[in-house]
Amino acid sequence: MISYNTQILPTNTLQETACSLEIAAKALLNGELVGIPTETVYGLGANGMNEDAVAKIFAAKGRPQDNPLILHISDMDMLQMTAQDVSDIGNRLGERFWPGPLTMVFKRKSNVPSIVSAGLWTVAVRMPSHPVARELIHLCGFPIAAPSANLSGTPSPTSAQHVFEDLNGKIPYIIDGGDCNIGLESTVINLSSEIPIILRPGRITKDDIEEALGMSVKIDPGITEYREYDGSVSSPGMKYRHYAPKANVKIFHGTTKEYVDYVNSRNDVYALCFLEDTQWLNNPYLCYGGADDFDTQGQKLFGALRKLDKLGAKTVIAHAPKKDGMGLSVYNRLIKSAGFEVVR
Ligand code: TXA
Ligand code: MG
Repeated sequence: MISYNTQILPTNTLQETACSLEIAAKALLNGELVGIPTETVYGLGANGMNEDAVAKIFAAKGRPQDNPLILHISDMDMLQMTAQDVSDIGNRLGERFWPGPLTMVFKRKSNVPSIVSAGLWTVAVRMPSHPVARELIHLCGFPIAAPSANLSGTPSPTSAQHVFEDLNGKIPYIIDGGDCNIGLESTVINLSSEIPIILRPGRITKDDIEEALGMSVKIDPGITEYREYDGSVSSPGMKYRHYAPKANVKIFHGTTKEYVDYVNSRNDVYALCFLEDTQWLNNPYLCYGGADDFDTQGQKLFGALRKLDKLGAKTVIAHAPKKDGMGLSVYNRLIKSAGFEVVR
């Protein structure tokens, strides 16, 4: 593999942004990879219509070959280039939530290289709302295939620095678009089957989708429970160990008092806790937001998991968020980073 002198491209002024976008678009056009900011997490982008470029994504991340990628588009014409049978439901969800943190799975058009979808007959598509991402896709004129820009298995990157930590030397450029607003990956919904089914929870919740459609949708049980992979899982990415820091993360469900008592009774553990817990804890801790502040929890979770490793934490007891609304997606990432290990 080629070794690069990875450059971080700034976007502090309009002029800087224009210059960075031009460099990045040229690299993508030449089949190179670029780290790209989005409102959810940073993506590792390649020209989604170029098979060789897409293959580089799998190599750089160490991503299993059977885990499909999302195509990022800047307008509805690009959706027509990539997906078939968008259907009334797809159009309604697009009108309501795009650009934004929703990925929809449709039947794949044959001009989309099969490697993008890891051989599946479907394709996942998202129109991001981050202005840098959208402008870049628009400049390129083709959809950008992009998974999260972390090494496979580690917490997703929510800053350009996180991307640098994981991919320094492996890619030529990272565009620095600041910290990600949402901090958790997009909601993924499969529209290629009879009944719409949420494969991955995100900022756009089941309630948001049901309200927009005026009908109920299903949610994959693998989102909160451990499931042995039997070949039938509809989103292949769900079977892999995810978001895992080096530290051993364990989940604790309970009130502030129950949680604090448990953590304080143990030596050598770090707390990944809520604001309400901090004043009572004797152990070292990282706070990832208030107990009811799901937005802050989402913004901070991945960065906190990375920071715990830097602090040298061996065991982390995480205070579990409620599973309501956006809390479900925070819980989903946390339980996966814990390898489904719940101490209480
Ligand atoms: O917010 C996001 O979605 C970020 C940013 C960069 O857009 N991207 C992201 O990509 O999280 P990635 O590759 O880390 O996760 C994509 C998820 C995986 O779980 C994958 O299995 C699923 O989407 N997926 C992709 N294509 C699919 C398809 N055709 N059918 C079912 N699931 C699919
Ligand atoms: Mg990922």
